[in-house]
Amino acid sequence: MLRFTFGTTVKYGDKMAHYEDWEKLPEETKDLERARQSLVEELEAINIYQERIDTTRDVELKKILEHNMDEEKEHVAMLMEWIRKRDRAQDRKFEEHD
Ligand SMILES: [Fe+2]
Repeated sequence: MLRFTFGTTVKYGDKMAHYEDWEKLPEETKDLERARQSLVEELEAINIYQERIDTTRDVELKKILEHNMDEEKEHVAMLMEWIRKRDRAQDRKFEEHD
């Protein structure tokens, strides 16, 4: 379950926010945008799980939430790996940055 902010041009569900005509974008750009948006959602899910882990008093539930949060971290790693293979400039930033 993810928490979203409404009220801007951002649309959720099966639609992502777009700033240009989606149909005119190259397929590579569309897939990179899908992956980056998925990354945002996975990171948001980690934040949500962490808050719930920190606040629940049920030890069994805490363990389940920790397990689920770890899976979200795996999803982040998988997406970032995919992005790094296709966005070389992004990949280089893992090797060299200020
Ligand atoms: Fe996930």
